[in-house]
Amino acid sequence: MLPTASEVPWQDLLASLPLGDQETLSLRIERYLADLQAGLAEVYPGLDVSLTRRAVALMVRHFAERPDWLRRLDLRRLLRPDWFLRQDMLGYVCYTERFAQTLSGLEGRLDYLTELGVTYLHLMPLLATRPAPNDGGYAVSDYRMVRPDLGTIEDLRNLATRMHTRGISLCLDLVLNHVAAEHPWAEAARAGDPAKMQYFLMFGDRTLPDAYEQNLLEVFPDFAPGNFTWEPACRRWVWTTFNRWQWDLNWANPEVFFEFADLILFWANQGVDVFRLDAIAFIWKRLGTDCQNQPEVHALVQALRAVARIVCPAVLFKAEAIVAPEQLRNYLGSGRHHGRVSDLAYHNSLMVQIWSALASRDARLLTQAMRRFPSPPHQTGWVTYLRCHDDIGWAISDADAQAVGLSGPAHRHFLSDYYSGVFPGSDAVGDVFQFNPRTGDRRISGSAASLAGLEVALRNQDTSGAQLAIARLLLGHAVILGAGGLPVLYMGDEIALLSDRDYLSDPEHADDNRWLHRPRMDWQRAELRSDLDQVPGMVFQGLRRLIAVRQRTEQFAAETPSVWWDSPAPELAIQERLHPVGTLLAIYNFADRPTWLPGSTFSGGPWPRARDLLGQGLLDLRTGVALAPYQVLWLVNAEPDG
Ligand code: GLC
Repeated sequence: MLPTASEVPWQDLLASLPLGDQETLSLRIERYLADLQAGLAEVYPGLDVSLTRRAVALMVRHFAERPDWLRRLDLRRLLRPDWFLRQDMLGYVCYTERFAQTLSGLEGRLDYLTELGVTYLHLMPLLATRPAPNDGGYAVSDYRMVRPDLGTIEDLRNLATRMHTRGISLCLDLVLNHVAAEHPWAEAARAGDPAKMQYFLMFGDRTLPDAYEQNLLEVFPDFAPGNFTWEPACRRWVWTTFNRWQWDLNWANPEVFFEFADLILFWANQGVDVFRLDAIAFIWKRLGTDCQNQPEVHALVQALRAVARIVCPAVLFKAEAIVAPEQLRNYLGSGRHHGRVSDLAYHNSLMVQIWSALASRDARLLTQAMRRFPSPPHQTGWVTYLRCHDDIGWAISDADAQAVGLSGPAHRHFLSDYYSGVFPGSDAVGDVFQFNPRTGDRRISGSAASLAGLEVALRNQDTSGAQLAIARLLLGHAVILGAGGLPVLYMGDEIALLSDRDYLSDPEHADDNRWLHRPRMDWQRAELRSDLDQVPGMVFQGLRRLIAVRQRTEQFAAETPSVWWDSPAPELAIQERLHPVGTLLAIYNFADRPTWLPGSTFSGGPWPRARDLLGQGLLDLRTGVALAPYQVLWLVNAEPDG
């Protein structure tokens, strides 16, 4: 049984605000107080009244400071709560320093992003970190300071303002599972400050760490085995899920909650629109479990989100939870947390399935996994992506594999072989990341273009191989653009940047091969983006076309329900999007050869004659449909009013 929430007086805390603000804030508090209180009561039973009052005081302070232009944005988005789910949304993710050197330099690159159609920019970690190694910025040493080599808070604020005038929102990482071992909280804890020791999970001997380890996994078995690190200065074992210099926070301590509530509101007031909740699955620990996906994670996010909804309703949460589909839906809210947690969550499964289908030239597993995949709750959506800054782990369930006649372990083994280039005939170039001898897992690093075969084709001066690789890249992107969700492009993929082996000569990165696919933006190559005779131009213009069609096609809005068809041809995936303005049929050929769909496929379908939005003209479905290697068809009714 959950503790019941008690009556909390809070009106007195608003007295310092002007009357109009009091009214706005009261209405929002009335709307979201129950969410806040229930979240807090679930995690900190018995403390909810005092904690709720403390949260209201915090919200009043930040609301008073919220700039006018952001208050207007709050109003605008309250009027259009699906703003981030519309078909004209397109994300892009990059490292500031690798894309534009600095935050002010980035302002000069906004035209490029606008040309591509970008409306949402995720800048990889940019807060002050410990000196390298720092996990690509995910070891934050000061949450209120921008990395000095990138600029200042003022630069970030200016950039955010500039971006907003172009309709581009800003997403920042919020690393809330851990801080750098050099963060002042950790320094104080190490020095024995009892209050700050409570910010972390510290143990005098191995009894509890050993008990927890029974059920814990290792995220970096290769370079950071185990989940605890001995800290000689304070003679304690410290919980360190990731690297030994990333100290896990103790969210059972309400002080940690308040630190992050304060940080969220602080950054929201600088113009941040979306917080990427990094490694959110890990923040609550429970003995006897793998300490991921615990219900308290959702209660905490619910409370944080209520705080954000009250002060800055324009702001969204995006969960980075790379977990099984059954667990993933909870990050968008289920059960008592329904409609109360994150707005977006990464669709890791789709990314994995696209690479799997490309390797096997077979879409049946993808179709099976997508059919079983939960739909997002009302007004939430998946973030779809083909590549990101992390490795690819072969998250394919044994049950899905079995359903299409495959063995899960054997297929995962095949994918690792295929993408590390050792499978006979594979033209993929990737490296194994974190081989785990215990489980046999081999995750993969490498850029989309290199994994799709472009590196090998260019090396061999194989023009038709390059054409096929480009077609694979465009097909993969078409799937993430067409699937429903907020699609996010990974920097450089739009001009087919190859993997970058320079990281090996950089001592700060050499031991982490994820830097293989974190190249510097090649602006010279980007100059070729309009040249249809050159690889960058073919990819960029191909993507532009897909994006432009998507932008004007309502059926691609994330909330459009969809079904994946049974395809008579195993290499084809067929997704039907069912919108009131008309059905859209997306057909994807995952094979490197032409294929054919007989007319009977469409006998129960929506219409006999179709128009392809991607330029193939009119098609009579009754006579069947031919597809070229890796071809994509986005079909609508040829006679919309018929
Ligand atoms: C997330 C990041 C990853 C990082 C980890 C630890 O999964 O995407 O790059 O290593 O969190 O912060």
